Amino acid sequence: MAASAGKRQTSWKNSAKALANLPVKSKKSTLADTRLYGRRKGRPLSTARHEALTELMPALGIPEKKLTEDGALAPGSLFDSPAPTILEIGFGNGEHVKGLMEQSPGTNFLACEPFENGMSAFLKSIHHTPLRNVRVLMDDALKLCLSLTSECLDGIYILNPDPWPKARHHKRRIVSQENLTTFARILKPGGFLTMTTDVDDLAEWMVTQASMHHAFRWTADKADDWKTMPEGWIQTRYEQKGIKAGRKQTYLLFEKKR
Ligand SMILES: C[S@@+](CC[C@H](N)C(=O)[O-])C[C@H]1O[C@@H](n2cnc3c(N)ncnc32)[C@H](O)[C@@H]1O
Repeated sequence: MAASAGKRQTSWKNSAKALANLPVKSKKSTLADTRLYGRRKGRPLSTARHEALTELMPALGIPEKKLTEDGALAPGSLFDSPAPTILEIGFGNGEHVKGLMEQSPGTNFLACEPFENGMSAFLKSIHHTPLRNVRVLMDDALKLCLSLTSECLDGIYILNPDPWPKARHHKRRIVSQENLTTFARILKPGGFLTMTTDVDDLAEWMVTQASMHHAFRWTADKADDWKTMPEGWIQTRYEQKGIKAGRKQTYLLFEKKR
């Protein structure tokens, strides 16, 4: 197993090296370019989820009018006071970001999930708790990323992003050179970019994309690092179900170069 892990990591590193010589598309993203491919609505909401959504969104939702694309939105202005800030993109039902909020009450969290059923599940989970160190966006995370000030984030999580397995849909994948440039702009030097997936092809894609991007450094130093759950890791139900079904979760830990 360790030998095949080593071989796989070496092949990723080799393809990253080869790809590093390709020209990187430098077109600047704009809000008009952002297009959401996933679904926004599913089954009708339960009363409890509906109540959580209607009661918490006015206080915790990031107002649409703040989502300009001029990189002027300081995250501290969304909270009572500035603090280290971490973004989670596509949080599903929000188990991971909720766990982080409990672990780090002194950190501000930005959390994006366009699917109403996921957002309402997360807000229901914190509704009758004191946890309020989060601001949420029920829309495309890229809208928020393009609006934030430069070097304002301490870290970004992208956990199990939609895999878009068909080759003609690969351009829909959230981890792309263009989006990595956006993530690099808003991360502080040394800020982390943590990505996970249980889809082999997507793992290879994400590690290649991030390795070939000049702003990021893969922090793995042993062949097995990518399959080792980081210490204190908070699993989502999606991750737990995948592991139970025999799928291997890959943990890709990158940081913005200093
Ligand atoms: C496979 S689910 C994973 C959910 C969660 N991260 C987990 O690991 O349990 C992918 C999530 O990404 C969300 N998503 C897709 N495109 C997005 C975008 N542009 N911005 C924010 N979230 C997005 C989807 O709505 C979906 O909930």
